[in-house]
Amino acid sequence: MTSLSGITPSGHVQLGNYLGAVARWARATTPDDLYFVSDLHAMTSAHNPAKLRALTRETLAILLAVGIDPDLVFVQSDLLAEHASMTWVLECVCTFGEARRMIQFKEKSQGQSGVRLSLLTYPVLMVADILLYGADKVPVGADQAQHVELARTLAKRFNTQYGEVFVVPELVLPPAAARIRDLADPTRKMAKSARNSAGVVFVLDPPDLIQRKIGRAVTDGLGRLAYDPDGQPGVANLLEILAACTGESPADLAEQVKDYASLKSAVAEAVIEELRDVRKRTVELIDDRTELDRIRAAGARRARERARPRLNGALRMAGLG
Ligand code: AMP
Ligand code: TRP
Repeated sequence: MTSLSGITPSGHVQLGNYLGAVARWARATTPDDLYFVSDLHAMTSAHNPAKLRALTRETLAILLAVGIDPDLVFVQSDLLAEHASMTWVLECVCTFGEARRMIQFKEKSQGQSGVRLSLLTYPVLMVADILLYGADKVPVGADQAQHVELARTLAKRFNTQYGEVFVVPELVLPPAAARIRDLADPTRKMAKSARNSAGVVFVLDPPDLIQRKIGRAVTDGLGRLAYDPDGQPGVANLLEILAACTGESPADLAEQVKDYASLKSAVAEAVIEELRDVRKRTVELIDDRTELDRIRAAGARRARERARPRLNGALRMAGLG
C-alpha cells in the first residue's frame, strides 16, 4: 500500500494544512509512502522566484519537523523531467472540458485577467504526481477531492486505451478537520494565500500571535454551544480545531465547554501546544543547510527510482521510444 500527497509552497504552511493534511501524513506512514513539496504547483499564478525557493525549503523542513520519515520526502521540481513528461502523456488523455470543469479553476480564474494556462492544466500535473508512483491512497483535504477523482478517471482511461500501467488511486479524507475555516471569515476556508492573514494561523507563528488570532476569531451572537457547522460556522470551526488537536469529537467538546471565551482559550492552548515543537524543529532544520540539502538529494534519488519504470512503461504504451 502506498499513500502519496503533496503540499504547495504558495505561502507559509497554515493550521488547515497541518490538521487536515501534514499531521495526518506523519501519523500514518508506511515504508512505501511519499510526501512531497509540490513547488511546480506554486507557479500557476503570479509568483516570486526567490520567495518560491525559500518557501520550498521551509515547507520541506516543516514536513520533517512534523515527523515524516526523511526517507519519504522529496521536492517535486527535483524530478522535473519525470513529472513534466508524465503530465504531457496524461494531458493527451484528458479533455479540455474536464479541465475546465474543475471547481478550483473556476474559483481561481473568475474575474481575473491574464489567467495562466497552467492554472487550467495543473490538475493534470497533480494526476501525474499521483500516477507516477503507483499510489493507491491519496490523503488530502476536501478541496482536492475533485482532482483525485480526475486521477481515477485518467488512470482508467489510459489503462483501457493503451494498456494497464496505472494504479487507480483512492481518495482518503480526514475524519476531522477536512476543511478548517478562516478564523476572521468562517465562510471561507483557511488558506496560505489569503489576502488578510488575521484569520490564518501559520504553523510558524509565535505563541502570542496564535493566542491573539484565536482570541479574535469570529463567532456569533447566539451564545449557544453546539456543533452546528451550518448555523454556527465560527463556533463549529473552533470545535473542529480543538477536536483535531485532542482526538475527541466536536459534538462532545461542545458539551464540555461553558462559553465562547473558554472555548477560545482551550483552542489557543491546544494549538500552541501542538505547534510548539514543530516550530522549534523547523527553525533548527532551516538553519542546518547541509542536512536539509542532503535529505532533499537522497529523497530525489529514491523518488526517481520509483517513478522511472512506470513512466517508461507509459511512454512505451503511448507509442513513444
Ligand atoms: P495546499 O495548501 O493547497 O497546498 O494544501 C495542502 C494540503 O492541505 C491539501 O491536502 C489540502 O487539502 C489541505 N488543506 C489546505 N487547506 C486546508 C484547510 N483549510 N482545511 C483542511 N485541509 C486543508
Ligand atoms: N494540488 C495540491 C494542493 O494544492 C497539492 C498536491 C500536488 C497534491 N500534487 C499532489 C496532493 C498529489 C495529493 C497528490 O493542495
